[in-house]
Amino acid sequence: MRTTIFYASKYGTTRLIAQEIGELLSTHDQVTLLDVADCKQWPVTDDGFNKAERYVLGVPVYAGKPLRNMQRFCDRYASELEKKPLFLFVCGMERLPEKQQQEMEAAFPENLRSVAHHVAFLGGALQWKKMNFVERLILAKITGKKGDQDLVSHRNIKKFAEVMVGAQPKSSVTPENSGTDESSGTPGTGS
Ligand SMILES: Cc1cc2nc3c(=O)[nH]c(=O)nc-3n(C[C@H](O)[C@H](O)[C@H](O)COP(=O)(O)O)c2cc1C
Repeated sequence: MRTTIFYASKYGTTRLIAQEIGELLSTHDQVTLLDVADCKQWPVTDDGFNKAERYVLGVPVYAGKPLRNMQRFCDRYASELEKKPLFLFVCGMERLPEKQQQEMEAAFPENLRSVAHHVAFLGGALQWKKMNFVERLILAKITGKKGDQDLVSHRNIKKFAEVMVGAQPKSSVTPENSGTDESSGTPGTGS
């Protein structure tokens, strides 16, 4: 299957998560990774056709909101994105499940969430040296800590990729991966 992963990332963590998902899918899928900051138009291949059979969208949350360029991308290309199976993930440092849920709702518009096969919160990381002064102040106040922090959930990333593998038509799934019970492809929320 051909999967295109669109991501937005300010400091690189969401890009790394997108890459990790891409690597986990790569035994089953032909994966293309695209930063929405580079998508000035809806991406098409050299021969003028978009051959992706499904899409992944990934975005980090800043002060409760998704990065603007992903918001704009979703608004601009909703009609294209809705045409194919869609999988959404959110990147952030929030630990409380109910707040993660709120952030997932804020991260993507309702029209995309309602058709998505899966929505998951995959954690995040703070790279202290890359952050500006104001960001450091805010984060030190919120988390009570200074310095790098890594809450990326590799377990949830693996689950996310397993859901995607399970959601493929049976003919394109290898036998050893066909038995996952998270494979229903029904709309849902990861934890
Ligand atoms: C100034 C600032 C505000 C943030 N606000 C939130 C927030 O409201 N909720 C959350 O879950 N994570 C928040 N984060 C954490 C980021 O979502 C996390 O660092 C993420 O991994 C960043 O992804 P990126 O490196 O791809 O931009 C914040 C980080 C910074 C620096």
